[in-house]
Amino acid sequence: MNGSKAKKLSTDSYKGVRDFYPADMAVQEYIFGVWKKAVESFGYEEYGASVLEPADLYRAKSGEEIVNEQTYTFTDRGEREVTLRPEMTPTVARMVAARRRKLTFPLRWYSIPNLFRYEQPQRGRVREHWQLNVDLFGADSIEADVEVISVAYRIMKAFGAADGDFEIRINDRKAVLAGLNGARLSPEQMRAVTRLMDKKDKLPRDAYLAALKEAAGADIDPAFEESEATQAAVRALSAAGISNARFDASIVRGFDYYTGIVFEIYDADPANRRALFGGGRYDDLASLFGGDKIPAVGFGMGDVTMRDFLETHKLMPAPRAPADYYLCVMAPEQAAFAAATADRLRAAGSRVAVDLSFKKVGDQIKSADKRGIPAAVVIGPEEAAGKPLKAKDLKTGAESELP
Ligand code: HAM
Repeated sequence: MNGSKAKKLSTDSYKGVRDFYPADMAVQEYIFGVWKKAVESFGYEEYGASVLEPADLYRAKSGEEIVNEQTYTFTDRGEREVTLRPEMTPTVARMVAARRRKLTFPLRWYSIPNLFRYEQPQRGRVREHWQLNVDLFGADSIEADVEVISVAYRIMKAFGAADGDFEIRINDRKAVLAGLNGARLSPEQMRAVTRLMDKKDKLPRDAYLAALKEAAGADIDPAFEESEATQAAVRALSAAGISNARFDASIVRGFDYYTGIVFEIYDADPANRRALFGGGRYDDLASLFGGDKIPAVGFGMGDVTMRDFLETHKLMPAPRAPADYYLCVMAPEQAAFAAATADRLRAAGSRVAVDLSFKKVGDQIKSADKRGIPAAVVIGPEEAAGKPLKAKDLKTGAESELP
């Protein structure tokens, strides 16, 4: 290689995606761990799928903006149109539809996929995010909607959030569509109008009303009554002790597949304006694959907004040190003894890292401290010859004999 003349490669990651250095990875693992534990406590089972899907999967029932402007779509070497999944709902509907005869309903499934959307990166929005998906198939009652919303609520509580830290906003797509029906809109106009309503907060009021007029062909400013289903859901949640759920006429959701209750969870702190969760009932999606309807309700929640929420509310736990013990080895002659000692400690359940630099012991201890490792064990010729090993507590300086 003629390295001297070649332009240096950038160390930046691709626009809108993130590298996960160990500290970020630890945050990610923490969030995933809380998610999994909370949803498994409701009996949800984990599933997975590829990030690659045929592009057609999203054409039928996602939102126009997602499909036309926000997907990563390419043609593969076999001339197939392929999309990096921008959401999991079409995939899970496809998987459930494929095995509809073999699966036992009601079905409770969850997954934590990474999703790709070509969005303008900004606070709470990136081009690759991880999203917990929780979906309940085969139950069409309001109780199923309430269960799914309760799962979302329990997740927030599992992170240590107080009820006042967030709000659950609920609406009913049926009420929205009935209201638009009154305005005599065609199905296409209705879809355009609901998509605009979903973006209401992101547009200046004048621009919003002008866009509505264009989409509907007339002056409208839809505002809808609380439906009976929404009232029943809010009542049932409140009876279950969930008092921060309320009707919000502006929640319509951007995807075309929702058919009933829709909901979003918002941070009470205005620093985070993006929804933390979004979901709802989508009873018709599985029938795109043929066969009978499979009623479904679920939600997605992203890792980015979750992390922002935890940081804003100071709910992020202190990072865990990478090891319990750090073995500081004076010289290569003691390396074999140190390795054997580390193995014994590991066998007893500890996490142990061995410093292999053979620098001055003081420097090795500093290195342990910098990594937040709580205890260091110095191994020199005397220890290797049988002197009892001592663990030094790096916070207090106290020494104790190693178990
Ligand atoms: P969504 O509202 O598009 O719904 O996304 C759900 C959540 O994922 C958002 O509230 C946000 O936390 C996170 N999210 C979405 N896009 C981004 C992004 N570009 N960057 C960071 N975070 C993002 C859905 O995707 C539905 N498929 C959810 C669902 C599941 N409905 C029923 N089941």
